[in-house]
Amino acid sequence: MGRTTIGIVLNGVTGRMGLRQHLLRSVLAIRQDGGLPLRDGSVLWPEPVLVGRSETKLRDIAERHGLTDWTTDLPAALARPDVQVYFDAQVTSARVKALQMAIDAGKHIYTEKPVAETLEQAIDLARLADAAGVKHGVVQDKLFLPGLRKLARLVEGGFFGKILSVRGEFGYWVFEGDWQAAQRPSWNYRAADGGGIVLDMFPHWHYVLEQLFGPVRAVTARAVTHIDRRWDEESAAYDATADDAAYGIFELDGGIVAQINSSWAVRVNRDELVEFQVDGTHGSAVAGLHHCRIQPRAATPKPVWDPDVPTTQRFREQWQEVPDNDTFPNGFRAQWEQFLRYVAADEPYVGDLWAGARGVQVAELGLQSSREGRRLEIPELDR
Ligand SMILES: NC(=O)c1ccc[n+]([C@@H]2O[C@H](COP(=O)([O-])OP(=O)(O)OC[C@H]3O[C@@H](n4cnc5c(N)ncnc54)[C@H](O)[C@@H]3O)[C@@H](O)[C@H]2O)c1
Repeated sequence: MGRTTIGIVLNGVTGRMGLRQHLLRSVLAIRQDGGLPLRDGSVLWPEPVLVGRSETKLRDIAERHGLTDWTTDLPAALARPDVQVYFDAQVTSARVKALQMAIDAGKHIYTEKPVAETLEQAIDLARLADAAGVKHGVVQDKLFLPGLRKLARLVEGGFFGKILSVRGEFGYWVFEGDWQAAQRPSWNYRAADGGGIVLDMFPHWHYVLEQLFGPVRAVTARAVTHIDRRWDEESAAYDATADDAAYGIFELDGGIVAQINSSWAVRVNRDELVEFQVDGTHGSAVAGLHHCRIQPRAATPKPVWDPDVPTTQRFREQWQEVPDNDTFPNGFRAQWEQFLRYVAADEPYVGDLWAGARGVQVAELGLQSSREGRRLEIPELDR
């Protein structure tokens, strides 16, 4: 069996995600391993075409990684018959226009989240892609984290009994940029540039909740800007107009209540940067990026509330580590492989532009809930 080449336009490779996770750890890592083996015994060979705004940056990335195919001319790249897939890791505000162009050019679409800044745009994109008959996928990397894979294993194995609630805690301190440089790009903190933690993180929480526990039916959220002045990449001060923390309650089928805090203004007192505690009638689990610990019903301690006596129990030590029992590749790469197999060999794939639109819907309704101070139900999307 031979080798088939698949041309992929990668737009936004000069950015954090585009370069590290998608170009280096996914597409080039697949090439370093000899390509992607398909079920029929053949190999799929991704051929990247780097696209961006800066010739200097693109040339530098290409040279450093032994690549020659790059351009600042997106329409020209999309007109090439040897390109089958368009991938987008640009800033969120630049995404819709580029995805529309790629769909019009008949390319399959793979994209970072959020797929758009508004639900209306996200639905238009999904409809456009369906009408054009192209395949489409949205990055859902958190599902591929070892900790969440183990959590999924617990759900599938019936460990929890009836699942009651999910408590998520995500965040860390993002430096303001004055006396220590900020570790995230400044556009994230400006509403006009597509920033904000709700638009950034609620789409992640949505696919995690939907795929692990079931459909999300209502949202109540409080989004705030705790730090309203920051310093950008050039050390210039700016007004931080986007929300940098969000306190959300999501209601799922079966009465499951998920409460997730997301914050770039919190100091970490956890084992990992994100942790989800799931409580069920037969057991509980705490899953992070890598680890997952459980406490079954039969091993549940019986604490008694007595504020006058210091507790002698070491509650965290009463949990048991879930073993790996598997090897977990980089999550972005694992999802790239799924998407490429979907495009090239029609293998099953979850997480299309409609899933992306549902993520944007929850973000949009979350922001509305915060503005209006009320709980909002989440209607089914009209295709
Ligand atoms: N899946 C995840 O876990 C995850 C994590 C972080 C970011 N993201 C998403 O990935 C996308 C990129 O985020 P990032 O952190 O890599 O951002 P970044 O600022 O590091 O990179 C942005 C990229 O977009 C390009 N760009 C195009 N038009 C631009 C414009 N008008 N202004 C500024 N840059 C422009 C830049 O050249 C650069 O290549 C965002 O949509 C973000 O929501 C996803």
